[in-house]
Amino acid sequence: MNNLAIVAENLTYQYGDLTAVNAINFQVGEGEILGFLGPNGAGKSTTVKMLTGQLVPKSGQATLLGMNIAKQPKQIQAQIGVCFENTNLYEEMSALDNLKLFARLYGSNADAESLLDRVGLNGRGKDKVQTYSKGMKQRLMVARALVNEPRILFLDEPTDGLDPVSSETIRNLIKEEQAKGTTVFLTTHDMLEADKLSDRVAFINQGKIVALDTPHKLKQQYGKRAIMAEVEMADGRLETREITLDEANTGTAVADLFANEKVVTLHSEEATLEDIFIQITGRSLV
Ligand SMILES: Nc1ncnc2c1ncn2[C@@H]1O[C@H](COP(=O)(O)OP(=O)(O)OP(=O)(O)O)[C@@H](O)[C@H]1O
Ligand SMILES: [Mg+2]
Repeated sequence: MNNLAIVAENLTYQYGDLTAVNAINFQVGEGEILGFLGPNGAGKSTTVKMLTGQLVPKSGQATLLGMNIAKQPKQIQAQIGVCFENTNLYEEMSALDNLKLFARLYGSNADAESLLDRVGLNGRGKDKVQTYSKGMKQRLMVARALVNEPRILFLDEPTDGLDPVSSETIRNLIKEEQAKGTTVFLTTHDMLEADKLSDRVAFINQGKIVALDTPHKLKQQYGKRAIMAEVEMADGRLETREITLDEANTGTAVADLFANEKVVTLHSEEATLEDIFIQITGRSLV
């Protein structure tokens, strides 16, 4: 791993008696995209809030860009971008004015028009935010998170509720940011998105990290690869045959299938991150 952008050590948060995040440890390398996945209430947003200085950990600590967030929040906040699940924009102001205001706060000379362009809101910049749809506000939030050209970008469910084209715009933007060297901490419920974008994924369940690795290694470790064949029976009915790959008898099973049955369709199956999460926790992700 390169230099570390984020180091979480025994990071813990309780709301009253409820332990929302329970002594989690992880590291994110500079330029890495970490997908942070887990069911509703698992502790994802609470973790993001601790990492970005909005909540002070009850115990443990977080180091971002070599600085402790509890000790140097301002220095860190100047170098990170945060996009949260709930929008906090100035509704009476136009989208462009929202971005310009934030740019001024950060002393940044970011080009507001081109930021809007990057999130697919070009041409709508002069409209008041209150006239924006939910998805448009969400994309404006992503643009706002980029105003200070952050070294670390925190995105809490950035594509939740967006249409497929807008989601793709945001995914492309995340890839562009990574290409520039930005570190991305991404929470999402979209397993395919996490799989496509993340260098590594962490699964969090009931405040604890239950697995953390590359999507590929998780699939190797927990998943099973298989071939699914649809075969036609003598009476015309279709039945399904499943052959597990990577086993000693896989070759003979495939040969037998073709020698003895009338194969109609054939496709390979790989475990999804969702399958793996259910296998590890017995719980579904949504
Ligand atoms: N302000 C709060 N006061 C009390 N409890 C809270 C508060 N915020 C979150 N919690 C609780 O902490 C736990 C973790 O919540 P958190 O918002 O971190 O989950 P999440 O993983 O982001 O879930 P989601 O996928 O629904 O966004 C939940 O049990 C939640 O009810
Ligand atoms: Mg959340």
